[in-house]
Amino acid sequence: MTQNILIKNGRIVDPSQGIDELGSFIIKNGKVYRFKAGDKTPADCNTINATGKVVCPGFIDLHCHLREPGFEEKETIATGGQAAVKGGFTTICCMPNTEPPLDTQASIDYVKRAAKESPVRILPIGCISYGRKGQELAEMGELAQAGVAGYSDDGDPVADSSLLLKAMEYSLNFGLPIIEHCEDKSLSAAGQMNEGITATRLGLKGIPAAAEEVMVARDIALTATSGASLHIAHVSTAGSVELIRAAKEKGVKVTAEVTPHHLTLTEEALLGYDTNAKVSPPLRTNKDIEALVAGLKDGTIDAIATDHAPHTAAEKNCEFAFAPCGISGFETALGALMGLVHTGKLGLPLLISKLTAEPAAIINKDSGSLKDGATADITIIDIDKKWQVETDKFLSKGKNTPLQGKTLKGKVTATIVGGEIVYEDED
Ligand code: DOR
Repeated sequence: MTQNILIKNGRIVDPSQGIDELGSFIIKNGKVYRFKAGDKTPADCNTINATGKVVCPGFIDLHCHLREPGFEEKETIATGGQAAVKGGFTTICCMPNTEPPLDTQASIDYVKRAAKESPVRILPIGCISYGRKGQELAEMGELAQAGVAGYSDDGDPVADSSLLLKAMEYSLNFGLPIIEHCEDKSLSAAGQMNEGITATRLGLKGIPAAAEEVMVARDIALTATSGASLHIAHVSTAGSVELIRAAKEKGVKVTAEVTPHHLTLTEEALLGYDTNAKVSPPLRTNKDIEALVAGLKDGTIDAIATDHAPHTAAEKNCEFAFAPCGISGFETALGALMGLVHTGKLGLPLLISKLTAEPAAIINKDSGSLKDGATADITIIDIDKKWQVETDKFLSKGKNTPLQGKTLKGKVTATIVGGEIVYEDED
């Protein structure tokens, strides 16, 4: 049995109930309840003084890379889990681009076994096709039984439209989403960054917005045909936002996520050839950021997901063309996103909704809420705390972030999973 915890006098922001007010919670037997003036404090109670802090449902990340099995030099399920709770995440969905890829019950079982030791809830995403090769469908029923949160071939999206249509039709049997990294590789081929004037100045081959948008349009058409649920990963262009908006208006079952880096950084982060800002899809322009923010506000984009993609320093410390894509994102997500709140571009309740209730709905999880009796997955934030990003303090093995040395305003101070305090900020 877990210890009772009283979280006192915080600003409760729970978008699942439309709540933004001062109040307290009591956690008993791993469940959370509102604690009102006059309620009796149970004996043997650990008290967290949340005065001046925001108390919200634990963050749910629909998209991260834990690298295990196969790439333990970049990250392990253990180190990734520690980094996730430090970032305020209580549930994370990990992508199947491991070695071997997560395309069998045995590989899903492996992740789930390792996840039992982790402070964070880990939901693996299973492959659409065997080996992520886009040739033959994985045993989607077996993967569903093993407990996957959805299906994706991640960075190698299914190019064969008829195979993807079949996968969508099968997915209907299991009520799980198809998650697509939308990239037409014939258009992005050998590209290093967003296509445009900055790429020209840097002498790097560009990746056009159309490489993403062609695939978004195709996937929406296949979703309309199949009636399946499609989730579009890391949307990065204004054109994709428009396509998704139009599809939603027509009633197509499509949802979408955007990353903190695509919301807060532009292609200009690459001006010094910083490989830590090399990511797929590439960082785009201010116009794209405006469209992505508008998409969050009008509901076109449902969730913010980190795409936490750790790589080793040795891999990133090389000529730009040879560096792998990815940003280590768990530990800076909240601080980076709070910049949008502090500059008035996004409201705090909306930001928290995109990190909690809305991603929960996509994976059919009854979480992301602090309603009475809910599982006590809770994140506590100091929205005004300034701190400097120092990658040598990261719990993730991946130190690859263009934010090294930057000052962010907004920090996770505690994370609670199932009524247990799994992270507390010591600064
Ligand atoms: O930048 C990225 N890195 N984007 C992806 O889609 C894959 C990821 C990785 O696995 O490193």
